[in-house]
Amino acid sequence: MFKTLPVFQSENKHNVLIIGIFEEAPLHPEVEKVNNELHKQISKLKKMKKAKLGERTILYTMDNMNSETVYVVGLGKKEDSTTETIREAIASASQQLKRDKIKKVAFLVESFVSESVDKNDAAVLIGEALALGTYTVLDYKEKTNEVDVNIEEVVLYGEEAGLKEAAQVGFTYGQGANRARKLVNTPGNLMTPTDLAEEAVALAEKHGFEYEILEREEMEKLGMGALLAVAAGSDQPPKMIVLKFSGNSSSDEIIGLVGKGLTFDSGGISIKPRENMHQMKMDMGGAAAVLGAMDIIGTVKPNVNVLAVIPSSENLLNGSALKPGDVITSLSGKTIEVRNTDAEGRLILADGITYAKQLGATSIIDVATLTGAVIIALGDCTTGAVTNNEELLEEVLEASVETGEWIWRLPNYAPYKKMLKTSDVADLNNAPGRQAGSITAGLFIGEFAEETPWVHLDIAGTAWQSKTSNLGPLGGTGAMARTLAQVVINKEG
Ligand code: BES
Ligand code: ZN
Ligand code: ZN
Repeated sequence: MFKTLPVFQSENKHNVLIIGIFEEAPLHPEVEKVNNELHKQISKLKKMKKAKLGERTILYTMDNMNSETVYVVGLGKKEDSTTETIREAIASASQQLKRDKIKKVAFLVESFVSESVDKNDAAVLIGEALALGTYTVLDYKEKTNEVDVNIEEVVLYGEEAGLKEAAQVGFTYGQGANRARKLVNTPGNLMTPTDLAEEAVALAEKHGFEYEILEREEMEKLGMGALLAVAAGSDQPPKMIVLKFSGNSSSDEIIGLVGKGLTFDSGGISIKPRENMHQMKMDMGGAAAVLGAMDIIGTVKPNVNVLAVIPSSENLLNGSALKPGDVITSLSGKTIEVRNTDAEGRLILADGITYAKQLGATSIIDVATLTGAVIIALGDCTTGAVTNNEELLEEVLEASVETGEWIWRLPNYAPYKKMLKTSDVADLNNAPGRQAGSITAGLFIGEFAEETPWVHLDIAGTAWQSKTSNLGPLGGTGAMARTLAQVVINKEG
């Protein structure tokens, strides 16, 4: 799909040529060429303040050039430009490609370059943002929107080796995030634990991963009391989903990626308010991020060992449902008093983490739409982190800077841990109260990681966007799919 050509020539034919323009800064010489062909229209756009970040204008070339149209996309101020702003701008232009059902597109790579974004970075961002910006949420209307964009050719104008390959890597990352988005956006009745397991198996077959799907009987034998307790209230059978990518047979290190796969969270007996309950189909956003990351990892194939573990269940309420006050025994042997059945994510993750350790994970990153409190603390643009290991956290933060997915660390001081030990009848209390809700939730999971280096990522805010943005439509964002993959790929020796 991606091709490179060293210099732009107006004789070349594309459906669309995409160029970026910065506010204030002079036009890049390559852009100036196009500007001249188009009777200085691009200079006029700049004067009309059309260079604001993400703003896009379609210019019709009227036989002045062989490209049918030129999309001019605003990049904001050059000195404020970062990989995030360039990603956003290109994704915004890509949304227009989707609308116009474009097949052949070209980019002037140089026009996106600034101090913080070199040509190679720009090519990666073009690939990634092209995937992110053209993503469509499938609808189920009588006349469905299923017909998807089908971009056949992307020409990158730029004189530098490796641009095509860079764009392809970016595209792989964007597609991984899109896979996660699709899983999150699928309604709960069509994305049950069984469906999620099927998606995981399909992914394993695509990339040749080893896999294992545990059924209820096996969970009973192993003693996965926490996952089983949450699943008790639903007619849908729970699944423990495991994928394994063995990229380095000479290393004993295995990175465990554990994702919360709650395919619908009603709250259980501690039922949620009715208003926004429909959004709780997104409570498998952690599982989606892990599968999205595994898709990227399966394509890039770094020499690293990765274990993906996804405990999956619904949280509903029938006559057998888990009740407040129940005491359950987790796979680790630790007992838990369930004060609130809506704090179910940490229960299924407890068994997910223990199982990952039993399968040999030497470090663990868990991802979960875990608490409403993280949305109060950080809003919907930043993921909250809790850890027991500075080095692993540093690796995660570094990767997140590369992917442009913001993460902020929450404290893990001893008094927060003490709040978990407030049950008279069990080792742990699953809902110690409103104070520091995201921290205690994270640290609850940490009780099961024990000494294993561990980072927890709470994506309750970031997994879903409630309005369309430059990066894509309302709904699932695919948060952390790219970052998890980056953490793994950065480990490549
Ligand atoms: N799935 C929710 C968290 C959530 C809230 C995700 C909003 C996405 C958007 C989780 O299972 C939950 O209900 N957590 C409770 C914990 C409380 C009962 C201790 C919460 O945040 O209120
Ligand atoms: Zn809940
Ligand atoms: Zn939940």
